Amino acid sequence: MHYIYVRDAHHSGGAARSPEGRGSPVKSSNTTAAGPSAGYAGAFGGFDGRIWLNAAHQGPLPRLAAEAAEEALAAKRAPHRISDEAFVDGPRRLRELLGRLIGAPAEEIILGNSASWGLQVLANGLPWRQGDEVLVLADEFPATVFPWLVSERHGVTVRQLGPGEPVLRPERLDQELSPRTRVVAVNWVRSLTGHVADIAGLHEVCARAAVHLVLNVTQGLGALPFDVGRLPVAAISCSGFKWLCGPYATGFAWIRPDVIQTMHPVQAYWLALPDGVELDLGREGEHRLRHDLGARAYDVFGTANFLNFIPWAAALEYLLAQGIEAIACHDQALVEQLIGLLEDSGYRFISPTGADQRAAIVVVSAPDPGDNQAVYQRLTDAGIDAALRAGNIRLSPHLYNTIDQIQHAAAILAGATTTPHAGTRRT
Ligand SMILES: Cc1ncc(COP(=O)(O)O)c(C=O)c1O
Repeated sequence: MHYIYVRDAHHSGGAARSPEGRGSPVKSSNTTAAGPSAGYAGAFGGFDGRIWLNAAHQGPLPRLAAEAAEEALAAKRAPHRISDEAFVDGPRRLRELLGRLIGAPAEEIILGNSASWGLQVLANGLPWRQGDEVLVLADEFPATVFPWLVSERHGVTVRQLGPGEPVLRPERLDQELSPRTRVVAVNWVRSLTGHVADIAGLHEVCARAAVHLVLNVTQGLGALPFDVGRLPVAAISCSGFKWLCGPYATGFAWIRPDVIQTMHPVQAYWLALPDGVELDLGREGEHRLRHDLGARAYDVFGTANFLNFIPWAAALEYLLAQGIEAIACHDQALVEQLIGLLEDSGYRFISPTGADQRAAIVVVSAPDPGDNQAVYQRLTDAGIDAALRAGNIRLSPHLYNTIDQIQHAAAILAGATTTPHAGTRRT
């Protein structure tokens, strides 16, 4: 199958199709009662012999997606291979895959280049009234805060709630809401600590007050399932390059149909057309804005972004073929193993350890946080790529990681702190 429509497919000669890539085990679940198998690992590859435990920063492209990228690159080298239909079919396929991912119809998907894209669409397109209020957390990841600041131009106040608990609890939100609050924008999973917000609880509070709950789901979606049919928040926005294993500068958003109907597009794109309507470059007469575009009126320009969207679609197709639930089971088994191995090691858990509170992000600190830089270096020297964030060690395994790798990382961590076992327990 080709990921890009080529005029002369038999001449494509682009990417070599490695049999390992195509034939890598594709099962509905790679998690057995004994724990996750290495089943997904063969579908990814390279890593230069290192262990990548940093999906919260960047997810790697699966092999199939890398092949698709090579094919897109080959087509760009020889543009006669790129058909006119590819400009329509590529975005359509991506919308379908993203719709399946979150349980929404394809036509409700907004294609973006980041999590910020969908948030700025809302911030610029919602029908604000003077004095409206947006609530965010002051210490939230900045991508969830910055887009709203432009709404201040419309007389909106962006109230940044001072630090409290790692995530906004429904009880606190209930107290913080004011009659002017129109939007609450939070992260589903906190990047720096891995805490998962109680979305059902926040949704309930917001629904009661007729306030829009907007979620940045970047650090959860792909490692955890999210279905907008079951939890119809006002909108979600997501980066594509972390847990969804796409290239950098990919992302998408979904806005609930009744919310999008109230919005005004702040952009117009010549290639944005409803399905089945063909671009007519030879038409005569004046151009007029279209009002029948639905969600695609908010797409990022360049919707056929071949080099990025074709590999991302291939990556999503691979993830969906495995099943997000199965991937979540695998990731959770890795996280459970890591937490179990680090218990009693002297490290302090910054991330929650309870199965119902965590995503696939484990954050720890050495007893003396001043040692974390050296611990991080030790991991790096041992070929393990984690992250040092806000002075703590963040490990974020995903489907391509194995139990062996987790054991290796835990062993390096255990050897990196000389502090006697402090008996730190789960939180
Ligand atoms: C929670 C969260 N949102 C968004 C991003 C990235 O934002 P964007 O896709 O807008 O560049 C990151 C990390 O880079 C993140 O951790």
